[in-house]
Amino acid sequence: MTSFQSPIGTHDVLAPQSALWEGLVATFAQYAYRFGFTLILTPMFEEVGVFNRGIGEGSEVATKEMYVFQDRGDRTYALRPEGTASVVRAFVQHQPTTPYKGWYVTPAFRYERPQAGRYRQHHQLGVEALGSDDPALDVEVIALAWRFFQALGLTRVRLLINSMGHDECRSRYVDVLRGHLEEHRAQLCDEHTVTWSHNPLRVLDCKREPCIAVTDDGPSLPDFLCADCATHLARVRHGLDQLGIDHVLAPRLVRGFDYYTRTTFEFVADALGNAQNAIGGGGRYDGLTERLGGKPTSGIGFGSGIERLLLAREAEGVTSNLIKRSIDVFIVDTSGQDVATVLADDLRAAGFAVERGFGERSMKSQMKSADRSGARVALLIGPQEVAADQITMRDLRSDDFEQAQQRVTRENIVGALRGHLEK
Ligand code: HAM
Repeated sequence: MTSFQSPIGTHDVLAPQSALWEGLVATFAQYAYRFGFTLILTPMFEEVGVFNRGIGEGSEVATKEMYVFQDRGDRTYALRPEGTASVVRAFVQHQPTTPYKGWYVTPAFRYERPQAGRYRQHHQLGVEALGSDDPALDVEVIALAWRFFQALGLTRVRLLINSMGHDECRSRYVDVLRGHLEEHRAQLCDEHTVTWSHNPLRVLDCKREPCIAVTDDGPSLPDFLCADCATHLARVRHGLDQLGIDHVLAPRLVRGFDYYTRTTFEFVADALGNAQNAIGGGGRYDGLTERLGGKPTSGIGFGSGIERLLLAREAEGVTSNLIKRSIDVFIVDTSGQDVATVLADDLRAAGFAVERGFGERSMKSQMKSADRSGARVALLIGPQEVAADQITMRDLRSDDFEQAQQRVTRENIVGALRGHLEK
């Protein structure tokens, strides 16, 4: 019979890789906590309107990439393509006190053309902060991402920053951009020669040379900011300077979702050096609560792709473990009695990571498993040990047989093991 594979553009993650995932999530949780964020969980699917209204019906993700389905009750749902719209929907529904600061770890689903660093199911770590338009909050959100990347050992990360302005500044800019694109439409890439007028901002996102050349010559978004939006951006940048967080103004950075207003930013990992080098991105979305039926409330957040963070670490040659995930002790049991079961339970209660042999296998084959497990110590229980109420403790990393092995009474094993592992 044919066997099954994970769907195209998705991945299974097993050990040892999965320990890196655990480490990444644990590190993020710790930083989010330090910055005052609490965990939020929302469903993996939502009414499709949450995303259509949230990220914008005309956005690339909504039109081409969303997984939309009918359930058995004929409701139309979509698998979450990103985290922000769901969190804001939950914020509007539950009305927590503000400022509300939530962090999340979530799979996100986009029907993309799979390639290295671009998947149909990817995973994001992210935060959303609602209830204040203070530029100091923008600085905090960006600083959280920055400090987290530092904690991961990443050093070659660039921060790009821009402002989309509020509705009025943006629509003034879009009008002028539209005029510029119309004038040069024949020079745009094949796709945008046809589609430029639907949403001129998307042309700024285009990675193809002809569109880059035309838009580089065109109007620049920061020049169209009103005084308030310009001051907001300046204060965010000043705050980042105060924290020593290097950044560059990126006038072309408009990002792919319609909800963005004012501050937008992206983190680029130079070690990745390809089109999939954005390891995180985010911005303000001061009109999003209203789009989702809530009271006007400003918000800002970011999302960062776990797969890309791990690729960036690999590309930079960072090998440090973020979390300890190894076995301390392996119990080799040839007595066939319950001694090993009870011992394993006692040792786990004392805080050790314990693995053991099962199935009455020979001493030799269990010792092989012990070596493979990476445990530092093997505890041997055979008929002799059971009769003497003792356990043989063997250090698996030591070549000196005499030194490596000692008998310990069952009663003293926890202390002896702790003493040995601390050496
Ligand atoms: P985004 O830029 O679409 O923003 O995604 C955030 C991050 O997720 C990207 O920077 C990238 O690291 C990762 N990512 C996105 N798509 C893929 C993919 N197909 N394969 C692998 N990794 C991917 C958002 O999703 C916004 N919700 C961020 C945000 C939060 N804005 C405000 N708050």
